[in-house]
Amino acid sequence: MNALDYQSFADVWEKRATIRTRPRRAVEDDGKLMYPVSRQPLVVSATFLRECPHLQAFALVQSLYKFINDVVIFETEIVDRTARSIAKDRFDIRFPFACRYDAMTVVVDEDYHALVAMDYMQQTIALTGIEPIPLPQEIELSRSIPKAIALAPEHLKAAVELICVSVAENTLTNDVAAFSKDDSVKQSVKGLMADHLADEGRHSSFWARLTKAWWQSAPAPDRQVIASIMPVFLSEYLSNDIQKQFDFTLIDHLDVSPAVRAALREEVESLAFPITAQHPLVGNIVRFFRASTMLDDPSMEAALAAWLP
Ligand SMILES: [Fe+2]
Ligand SMILES: [Fe+2]
Repeated sequence: MNALDYQSFADVWEKRATIRTRPRRAVEDDGKLMYPVSRQPLVVSATFLRECPHLQAFALVQSLYKFINDVVIFETEIVDRTARSIAKDRFDIRFPFACRYDAMTVVVDEDYHALVAMDYMQQTIALTGIEPIPLPQEIELSRSIPKAIALAPEHLKAAVELICVSVAENTLTNDVAAFSKDDSVKQSVKGLMADHLADEGRHSSFWARLTKAWWQSAPAPDRQVIASIMPVFLSEYLSNDIQKQFDFTLIDHLDVSPAVRAALREEVESLAFPITAQHPLVGNIVRFFRASTMLDDPSMEAALAAWLP
């Protein structure tokens, strides 16, 4: 990327970054939910409502803990890693200084998001007295990104990493947006999500710009290779294996009879979204592939055919 082609957002970051502008969020002791039921459908399943509706608050707090744990992994192990290597000019694709500076603001934002999330988790444990059950060590991206990179030839590994992180930074943004609109949920949780979202708007366009710049200068054969890797990345990214394992662990920690436990596991089995055009995140992903101009390429269009509306 040419230095003249990159416009820094450093001024906007100084004025608007949440680390510069937002007060600490304190969890309030009111009757509202810690987590939206729309994001933990197990608690509104027929079996749950019939057998253990009094455990809903417990299950939602644990689901908040998992969400926070996922955020911390995503921020510190996925986005931080790639943004930091761009900032320090250790990435295989070279970027001008202004771009590396912006990448460093992403590092700062993401580590701050992880800190805020950990703070909120500690406050929630103190308020509710509910300790987290064992939480996953990985998120879907911890598996899908290395898998995609392993499929790429040496000279395209960095590009695959860049595109995967860009996809993730463009899909989670919309995911958090949905969260912040739910009125049954505590104001502080929504505030936390809204703060996070304020930074992610800047990030998603940052990553999309880098992806677009790389893609538009890439030769057709390289684009074809990347296109062939994307479906593998997306299948693993959208898999619900980790969520399902967590739900099973959660069920194991509910004080219910073995028969109810078995029925709840059945409910979880039936909750998975098949990975098709109707999957809730696929729309966001397709939008990113269009915005970055990747989908203008016939090889990308063919590779994603099954997921296009
Ligand atoms: Fe973030
Ligand atoms: Fe981000």
